[in-house]
Amino acid sequence: MDSTDHKKFLIGNYASPVLEIVRGEGAKLWDSEGREFLDFTSGIAVTNLGHCHPHWTEQVSRQAEKIVHCSNLYSIPEQVRLAKRLVSEIGPGKMLFCNSGAEANEGLIKFARLASGTPDFQGKGKILAAENAFHGRTMGALSATASPKYRKGFEPLLDGFEFAPLNDLDAWDRKLDDKTIAVLIESIQGEGGIHEARDDFLQGLEKLCRERNALLMIDEVQSGIGRTGDFLGYHQSGISPDAVALAKGLGGGFPIGAFWISDQWSAVFKPGSHGTTFGGSPLACAAAHAVLDVIENDGLVEAAREKGLVLHAGLSRLVERFPTMLEEVRGRGLMIALAMENDPAELIASLREKGLLVVGAAGNAIRFLPPLNVDDAEIEQALNITEDALASCQTKKSE
Ligand SMILES: Cc1ncc(COP(=O)(O)O)c(C=O)c1O
Repeated sequence: MDSTDHKKFLIGNYASPVLEIVRGEGAKLWDSEGREFLDFTSGIAVTNLGHCHPHWTEQVSRQAEKIVHCSNLYSIPEQVRLAKRLVSEIGPGKMLFCNSGAEANEGLIKFARLASGTPDFQGKGKILAAENAFHGRTMGALSATASPKYRKGFEPLLDGFEFAPLNDLDAWDRKLDDKTIAVLIESIQGEGGIHEARDDFLQGLEKLCRERNALLMIDEVQSGIGRTGDFLGYHQSGISPDAVALAKGLGGGFPIGAFWISDQWSAVFKPGSHGTTFGGSPLACAAAHAVLDVIENDGLVEAAREKGLVLHAGLSRLVERFPTMLEEVRGRGLMIALAMENDPAELIASLREKGLLVVGAAGNAIRFLPPLNVDDAEIEQALNITEDALASCQTKKSE
């Protein structure tokens, strides 16, 4: 791979790439040198149907021949129909579309700010978020993201954010005061290393929010659209949030984000409160419809749960086999992390050399995020490659 032009013309914002990807099909990717890889990154939890799923490609191509973009000056039938489908999954409420996860969270933050100007929430302004969370890179979403590694160099960020540790309800109880307008939380921390918000914690948080008149806002950008074995990650806890952010898997690879606000509060947005040129374009919505069609027709939410159990069990066996290198397996559905004792960079590189792509996360974790329609043979192949790579790393260490 010749990276001369890459270095010359692209801002050096990302670490130097080691692969040049040119083609994908299902759970497989090919690079410019013709090498084949099993893709357990799904473009960071995005291509939930795998690459170039025939129904997705057909629907997007068909839409591209009809109309791609017209802006939100006009009603877009594909957008209205998508809102209806998402509301039927999430609950009575309304949708606003955007283009990314960070923008979806910006929407939630702006929702909280707008709500603070209403008689229901006068005098409140603080947003409480979880330590070790990740909500995106825009200045608002970054203000809700505590980790110094993301914030460094961009301060001062927005005022009015405080943080408490995940799953420590007493800490949230102490911080959630009469100035708190909203709580923003991931049901499973993704970039933070796959840490699940426990069901009893989410239920306790919901109770605190109701008692203290604060809004409960859930970031389902990474954990949503079937990835965890539920349509949304918080569904298994039975809570009823006031607002939810979506993106990543929603478009199956085409950029689309969205946020849902419950019927009780959706009227805080008035004409002109917020806006986006591209959000919810006919093409983006066609991509999302194609994703939802396949998820529904092929039962991919249930599939993610079942395949996740197989992957989790296989990785747990490897933790038993390599106890000095591996700590534990975390997560559920197809949002799973293998936590290592030390820096996982060497193992990630070895997996890549052996044909398996995975993605790192905070806290020495490696994320396994295959498409929701990954098959048993592909999971077995991934587990075999992982075992092989771990054995190689162990041999190297003992030399
Ligand atoms: C939970 C969560 N929220 C928000 C974001 C930001 O999404 P985007 O990169 O599309 O802006 C991410 C991205 O990884 C995420 O995992």
